[in-house]
Amino acid sequence: MLRFFIFGILIASTGKPVSAACKIEMSPPRVMVKFGHSLTANCTSLYSEIAGIGWESTYGGVGLQTGISTLPFKIDTVERWVIQPTCYVTLPNGDQCEEPLSVTVYQVPESVSIAQPLSEAGPMVEGKQYRMQCDIVNVAPASLLSVYWHKGNKIIYHETFNESTLSPVNKSSILNLTAQRDDDGSQISCEAKLDLGPGELNHSAVQSKSHEVAVLYPPAFINPETETVELSDRENIILYCNATGNPVPVYSWDFPQAIQEMSKNEDVNQPFLIPSFQFPGNYSCKASNTQGTRIKYFTVIEAPRDRTTLAAIIGVFVALGVLLFVGGVLFVTRDGTFSCNQSKYLRGQPSGTV
Ligand SMILES: *[C@@H]1O[C@H](CO)[C@@H](O)[C@H](O)[C@H]1NC(C)=O
Ligand SMILES: *[C@@H]1O[C@H](CO)[C@@H](O)[C@H](O)[C@H]1NC(C)=O
Ligand SMILES: *[C@@H]1O[C@H](CO)[C@@H](O)[C@H](O)[C@H]1NC(C)=O
Ligand SMILES: *[C@@H]1O[C@H](CO)[C@@H](O)[C@H](O)[C@H]1NC(C)=O
Ligand SMILES: *[C@@H]1O[C@H](CO)[C@@H](O)[C@H](O)[C@H]1NC(C)=O
Ligand SMILES: *[C@@H]1O[C@H](CO)[C@@H](O)[C@H](O)[C@H]1NC(C)=O
Ligand SMILES: *[C@@H]1O[C@H](CO)[C@@H](O)[C@H](O)[C@H]1NC(C)=O
Repeated sequence: MLRFFIFGILIASTGKPVSAACKIEMSPPRVMVKFGHSLTANCTSLYSEIAGIGWESTYGGVGLQTGISTLPFKIDTVERWVIQPTCYVTLPNGDQCEEPLSVTVYQVPESVSIAQPLSEAGPMVEGKQYRMQCDIVNVAPASLLSVYWHKGNKIIYHETFNESTLSPVNKSSILNLTAQRDDDGSQISCEAKLDLGPGELNHSAVQSKSHEVAVLYPPAFINPETETVELSDRENIILYCNATGNPVPVYSWDFPQAIQEMSKNEDVNQPFLIPSFQFPGNYSCKASNTQGTRIKYFTVIEAPRDRTTLAAIIGVFVALGVLLFVGGVLFVTRDGTFSCNQSKYLRGQPSGTV
């Protein structure tokens, strides 16, 4: 009541407004209608008294009606892309005011597809950039269109369009993708969605087919590129050279000089090696595929506490023999030189003396 009163004063103080904004209520305030569907909206006058109320529209207009304060606007089948209805009210003094109703006629995309299926283009190569195109056919209005590119369940790119056409158009979204090894095997798709506001959202999205991406990349070791492995007298050591890569890497092994001959018959085309001779030294493994070659180095050492390995024992005997033969007993009896030398041999070059 107070509102009407204040408004009345406003009208009185500003003279006779023509085509000013009305004190009316639109229900719903804005309309989203699918092409081919029906549209209804109500215009309700909030004035205490009016001479008449009507809808003006190039399509579906309603002439001035008297004796009512609520007038519906109805179209059974919306078959136009541009509809601009205006509700107008004639006041008892002859003044007229009007208010447009915002109507959006939409059409969800007829089809959404990624052009030139990736599988036909062949695998990608890591580090190279690829251009992917998503084609959206017959969507309206394009100004409400959002395109989302999905990789797995992540959104990697989002695009909107600055387009004033209200009737259906075809749009394309371009994704620049720099191929990465993590992309290998992932699913890429694009989704076209009309941002219609709450309620309608779930009907407005169309998703393309998923395309699996293959990315070629050179081998990469799962474990560090250099490893130090200690021999143990309880179990055999295993050297792991496992690498990822596309295509799947092939492996080859290199052994310390000392056991190269003996290891000739080992199966060395595997990502791991259980040396048949548990021997200290430098081992290496080569992983290769069409994209490159990587080498991993293993330094196999004896456990520091382990003084009874074969090599050490042989070392002791050789050292003893040499000492006894050359130096005689005299060296031994003097101030413990013998035991010093012996331990030097043990620590310094146990395998060198073999
Ligand atoms: C319009 O008003 C009529 C009668 O008051 C009501 O039945 C109808 O639900 C309303 N429609 C809308 C869209 O508000
Ligand atoms: C959208 O396009 C209009 C003209 O078509 C231009 O004036 C406006 O700057 C554009 N807006 C953006 C965000 O690109
Ligand atoms: C959109 O593409 C479809 C199919 O490719 C075609 O039939 C239609 O004419 C195109 N529409 C426009 C507005 O270019
Ligand atoms: C994609 O790359 C092309 C050239 O390669 C460039 O013109 C375009 O702006 C890029 N698009 C995006 C979204 O980065
Ligand atoms: C869309 O949402 C409405 C309720 O908000 C629900 O009844 C309907 O099943 C949903 N449709 C789809 C396709 O998810
Ligand atoms: C390395 O690959 C072999 C054979 O595929 C597998 O048995 C082993 O578990 C892998 N090791 C590691 C550390 O991944
Ligand atoms: C093993 O490799 C290291 C460095 O890579 C080198 O210093 C060492 O002499 C090598 N040992 C043998 C027995 O070849």
